[in-house]
Amino acid sequence: MGAGLWFLFFAVNGVGAFVHPSQLSSCRVLQKDAYCSDLNLTTIPPLLPPGIHMLDLSRNFLQNLTEDILSTYPTIHQLNFHSNRIQSIQPGLFRNMTHLQVLDLSRNQLHLYAALKNNVGPLTSVQKLDLSGNGFYTDMSDYFLRDAPALRNLSLKGNSITKIGKETFSGCLGLRNIDLHNNVILEIEEGTFDSLQHLTELDLSMNSISCINDFNLFQLKSLNLSKNSMTSFQTTHSDQEFELLYLDLRENKIHYFPILPTKNKIIYLDLSRNQLRSVNCTGAAEELQYLKDRHELIHAPQCSRSHHQELYRLCYLDLSYNQFKTVPSDFFNSLVALETLNISNNCLSSFMVDTKGPLYALKTLDLSFNNLQNLTFPEGTLQKLRTLYLQGNYLSTLDFSHLPSITNLHLQLNELRVCGSQDRPSGCVSFSSMPKLQYLYLSENNLISVPAHAFQGTPLLILDLSLNPGVEISEQALSGLESSLKYLSLRGDQLQTLKTDLSLLRSLRMVDLSSNRLTSLSLSRDSAIEILRLQNNSLETLEDHTLMALEGKLRTLQVSMNPLSCCANTRLIGWVQQASVDIPDILMATCHYRKDAEYVKINLRNVKTEHCETLNSKVFVISLIAVLVLGLVVVLLVAIKLCHSRGHRFSHSYKA
Ligand SMILES: *[C@@H]1O[C@H](CO)[C@@H](O)[C@H](O)[C@H]1NC(C)=O
Ligand SMILES: *[C@@H]1O[C@H](CO)[C@@H](O)[C@H](O)[C@H]1NC(C)=O
Ligand SMILES: *[C@@H]1O[C@H](CO)[C@@H](O)[C@H](O)[C@H]1NC(C)=O
Ligand SMILES: *[C@@H]1O[C@H](CO)[C@@H](O)[C@H](O)[C@H]1NC(C)=O
Ligand SMILES: *[C@@H]1O[C@H](CO)[C@@H](O)[C@H](O)[C@H]1NC(C)=O
Ligand SMILES: *[C@@H]1O[C@H](CO)[C@@H](O)[C@H](O)[C@H]1NC(C)=O
Ligand SMILES: *[C@@H]1O[C@H](CO)[C@@H](O)[C@H](O)[C@H]1NC(C)=O
Ligand SMILES: *[C@@H]1O[C@H](CO)[C@@H](O)[C@H](O)[C@H]1NC(C)=O
Ligand SMILES: *[C@@H]1O[C@H](CO)[C@@H](O)[C@H](O)[C@H]1NC(C)=O
Repeated sequence: MGAGLWFLFFAVNGVGAFVHPSQLSSCRVLQKDAYCSDLNLTTIPPLLPPGIHMLDLSRNFLQNLTEDILSTYPTIHQLNFHSNRIQSIQPGLFRNMTHLQVLDLSRNQLHLYAALKNNVGPLTSVQKLDLSGNGFYTDMSDYFLRDAPALRNLSLKGNSITKIGKETFSGCLGLRNIDLHNNVILEIEEGTFDSLQHLTELDLSMNSISCINDFNLFQLKSLNLSKNSMTSFQTTHSDQEFELLYLDLRENKIHYFPILPTKNKIIYLDLSRNQLRSVNCTGAAEELQYLKDRHELIHAPQCSRSHHQELYRLCYLDLSYNQFKTVPSDFFNSLVALETLNISNNCLSSFMVDTKGPLYALKTLDLSFNNLQNLTFPEGTLQKLRTLYLQGNYLSTLDFSHLPSITNLHLQLNELRVCGSQDRPSGCVSFSSMPKLQYLYLSENNLISVPAHAFQGTPLLILDLSLNPGVEISEQALSGLESSLKYLSLRGDQLQTLKTDLSLLRSLRMVDLSSNRLTSLSLSRDSAIEILRLQNNSLETLEDHTLMALEGKLRTLQVSMNPLSCCANTRLIGWVQQASVDIPDILMATCHYRKDAEYVKINLRNVKTEHCETLNSKVFVISLIAVLVLGLVVVLLVAIKLCHSRGHRFSHSYKA
């Protein structure tokens, strides 16, 4: 057939009937695939080339599937009926389609079909079946799953299933992946998944499951229970090894740390947005009794109060948005593989890692938005930590000298002081001589000053000192960053002058000086700055030498909300009008000039030479008039004098 693309025309309303050409529609056929989506079809198009493998009929108006036309395409591997109005399927329709592997019936009205208790018949070779969005209630999927021996991937998401019965999957024992996301499942009958020997992925997210009391799916690799109403998760007591790798319990109401398999391989555990207060698996005895009384606790948990769960393979642990006040350091003893730990948005008032559980593999630690006032990193712990999030705490001092790999520090919204390079670090944080630190965020700390050489020996790429109103920035504050610093923000610092010469920072590409009170900006030599934000300052002029230093490299400049003078900024206005730099805030960028003893504001784009010349020419006219008047007076005086002495001749000559 070749790789050619050809079109096939057929009648929308069936074969034979006369149709006006405008009612003709076309499927696109590409090799063995026929694309017939979005064609307003009400029947399956006949006369497609024989031997097609894929037929896409999504987003049409098909209602009833019968065999007459479909049986002429026995070679189909993939059938897509997504988003039609299918409400009936001829029983046994798919029996003889022995090549059919992928069947997509999502977003139809098959609940109407299931309500009639019709059985779709054998899905002989179907491996992937999508029944999502069909309005199914409990048990309705049974009519599709009774005889599906080859089925591996099943989606039932977006239905209204409230209960999964024991027999639901008994006709498809080869299932590997079941997606039940977004139903209203309240109950799963005991043993429902037990016979599915190959089941590896189960998505039960967004349902109404309230607890799992004896998790026993040994072969399962991924279990998603996020967005349910779970109060507890407990594994059945067993010494057998579980294959589970991913466990997502995010957005539930879990109070106690889940009881995970004793022998586990878990690498990913998300417990964020729950109600955890401690890493203990159980609470006090009276709380256990309370749970038992409410039948929320069936088996007595086998988690010993003094021993935490052992999670030797865990790479990712998310405990954010819970109610932790502390996490005992022995909890970390088994977490030898942990790379990411997130305890942000809790109530931690302390956090401690010790050498017994040094979190040696940890690369990212997020302790942001807690109640930390102090934090220490003992020697020999957190040796691989690269990124540390501490924003939104009450930290006033910190010592990073034992964190050799730290690259990225998020310290905004604290109460820190920056030490000078010579200072003995007490009451302040030293950022000098941190050989790997590249990203440093210090905004909103009420910083008092940034002393000279504060970052000496630290190869910062990004430095954010914004929103520290009144901070005193020493002339030498950025020394040592000449060849590394690319981005600098001093936004909202109430700076009146900038003592630091930014043109000395040879790598600097982006500078944010907006929302200060700067009256001038001075650069001593050619700068590499490409993006410069100067809006919302007190600049009347941008000096020629500054603009010349920026010329060539500068691509973007923001200058709005400054009291710029139109007539003292001819070079800047030239840039604007020749569009030699991009000015994203051009609509608000104005300057002012004098007209009749008043100041007039106009947009930088609209400044014309007359605006400044009118002023000059008026001065010129006035001085001209003054000179003329003066000259006239002198002439008159001379004339009077002459008249007095030789009155006669003068009057005579006038008369002439
Ligand atoms: C399908 O019907 C809609 C509305 O009736 C029309 O706008 C659209 O052009 C039709 N599409 C095709 C491919 O005929
Ligand atoms: C589909 O079947 C239903 C019930 O059997 C019937 O009411 C409806 O008219 C049929 N629709 C089409 C397009 O044949
Ligand atoms: C399936 O094939 C068998 C024999 O090949 C035939 O008797 C039967 O009618 C076919 N069924 C359908 C629904 O096409
Ligand atoms: C089917 O399920 C397996 C196992 O869960 C999964 O790896 C695979 O990506 C799924 N295949 C499709 C086509 O969705
Ligand atoms: C669990 O399901 C949610 C959707 O509700 C999804 O966002 C999340 O990524 C899933 N978790 C995992 C580990 O796949
Ligand atoms: C957790 O268990 C320890 C004993 O292992 C106990 O001291 C502590 O009070 C428990 N925490 C909570 C919140 O129950
Ligand atoms: C930690 O969790 C919070 C809230 O869920 C999230 O915003 C943040 O990005 C996470 N941190 C990391 C490092 O993934
Ligand atoms: C750390 O802060 C806590 C209060 O949050 C205080 O009890 C403790 O003594 C402080 N530790 C050090 C070493 O300053
Ligand atoms: C301008 O800067 C002041 C501080 O100097 C700030 O309060 C104000 O919000 C800024 N305005 C805008 C529009 O950014």
